[in-house]
Amino acid sequence: MTGRRMTSAMQNPPATSANLLVELHSIVERLALAELFPQPQPLEVELGCGDASFLVEYARRNPGRNFIGVERLLGRIQKLDRKGRRATLINLRGVRIESAYFLQYLLPPNAAASLHIYFPDPWPKKKHRRHRLINEPFPSLARAALASGGVVYLRTDDTDYFGQMNEVFGASQEFQKVETPAELSEVLTDFERGFNAQGIPTLRAAYQLK
Ligand SMILES: C[S@@+](CC[C@H](N)C(=O)[O-])C[C@H]1O[C@@H](n2cnc3c(N)ncnc32)[C@H](O)[C@@H]1O
Repeated sequence: MTGRRMTSAMQNPPATSANLLVELHSIVERLALAELFPQPQPLEVELGCGDASFLVEYARRNPGRNFIGVERLLGRIQKLDRKGRRATLINLRGVRIESAYFLQYLLPPNAAASLHIYFPDPWPKKKHRRHRLINEPFPSLARAALASGGVVYLRTDDTDYFGQMNEVFGASQEFQKVETPAELSEVLTDFERGFNAQGIPTLRAAYQLK
């Protein structure tokens, strides 16, 4: 640019005006999904969406579906808002809350076509493993959240946690192992990019309701 300063509005493409973060008026009432999105479309949820780089790109590629990112850290969920608005997405919303609580109390039953859980905190110390999101009770929570034929997509870098993920879903009578579609695998998350750059491969699995 010559002769004048570049303003931030020039650096960033126009954004949608509405805040994409859901303001929770109650944490004991389930979300009114019809009020969150302009179109009633299949819903996909990412738990622990971090900086939302996966979800923003995936929502951009799939305008015929609605997406909710769940994240407990304010700074990270604010990135979902900023990036989603910059990409003028109307099929994306963010909720700042704990993931298991979101599934159990806020998401209407059988509402999600899929759950994406990518690089959840591995809690590597044995005495901390009870903090892991994917544990014995998780398949029941997922089953209650998913619509018929719904799928849970999992990714991690941690071999021990990957073993636990496969154990708990493998033990569930209600899920069967399926392939992750290539068009989903090719959209990387922020942590995944970092791990892959260090030569650490992505371990992925998917489980579908029978
Ligand atoms: C290792 S990061 C991965 C972020 C993102 N999925 C990625 O792959 O780039 C884990 C994220 O999950 C969030 N998180 C961890 N436990 C959570 C929980 N119980 N509920 C909601 N968010 C959680 C963390 O704040 C963090 O942003």
